[in-house]
Amino acid sequence: MISIDGISKEFDLGSETVTALDTLSHDVAAGRFVAVVGPSGCGKSTLLRLIAGLEKPSSGSIEIEAGRVRRPVGFVFQDAVLLPWKTVEANVRFPLDTGGTKRALADAKVRELLELTGLSGFAKALPRQLSGGMKQRAAIARALAEDPPILLMDEPFSAVDLLTRETLNDELLRIWERTGKTVVLVTHSVEEAAYLADEVMVLSAHPGRLVKTYEVALARPRNEATKLDRDYHELVAALRRDLRGGRIRP
Ligand SMILES: Nc1ncnc2c1ncn2[C@@H]1O[C@H](COP(=O)(O)OP(=O)(O)OP(=O)(O)O)[C@@H](O)[C@H]1O
Ligand SMILES: [Mg+2]
Repeated sequence: MISIDGISKEFDLGSETVTALDTLSHDVAAGRFVAVVGPSGCGKSTLLRLIAGLEKPSSGSIEIEAGRVRRPVGFVFQDAVLLPWKTVEANVRFPLDTGGTKRALADAKVRELLELTGLSGFAKALPRQLSGGMKQRAAIARALAEDPPILLMDEPFSAVDLLTRETLNDELLRIWERTGKTVVLVTHSVEEAAYLADEVMVLSAHPGRLVKTYEVALARPRNEATKLDRDYHELVAALRRDLRGGRIRP
């Protein structure tokens, strides 16, 4: 579904050039849940922006096979970027209206998404009336509005407390299982990566290279029992070793 072939990304800062990503290749199969971890500044957000087509690689290519859809990719940013003057409902509806979806269809879609993300009771609330976790749920609902087959998430839960984060993780898994989306999620939390993903990509410190990928064989559905599983703890420990100090080199 996503073929990343030898991409590099350099940023020209006038006097010098910063290499954010260095010849990274990877294929993500349809329906998979992929987590990306790596030290700060290694190019994780850049990778998502390249996949989303928000930036072009300096070399290499990214192919997205999504069939004939209007929007192949939905994006959830670290800080929920909701329109502050619009209600939750109107925020989720926004891409549908600008995309020209028929009114009745949009109504039904918004209702379905608010239900999927547990926000049905908050349709008329304004973003400032929501908790951080609820804002992120609304951002997820909005990213799913046009039914993109691919969902890209850049540290979506890093601004919420740990308990909320665990709840949101479970909700995200439920949404993923129900919708069959292909998910690429960037996270700083090795626990979150191990708990959620089918595979974890580990990037090296700046410039980001793909050092390793782990297949995560933990049974699904994942739940509290997963966090007691020895394989889960071994994976978390291995990821932490890889990232310790952010000094790993390929
Ligand atoms: N628009 C830009 N212009 C210039 N340099 C940039 C730009 N975007 C990113 N960079 C540089 O590219 C490198 C990778 O940045 P990126 O934001 O992708 O890292 P990251 O892995 O997401 O970091 P973090 O974990 O802190 O979010 C950094 O050195 C950054 O300074
Ligand atoms: Mg980032």
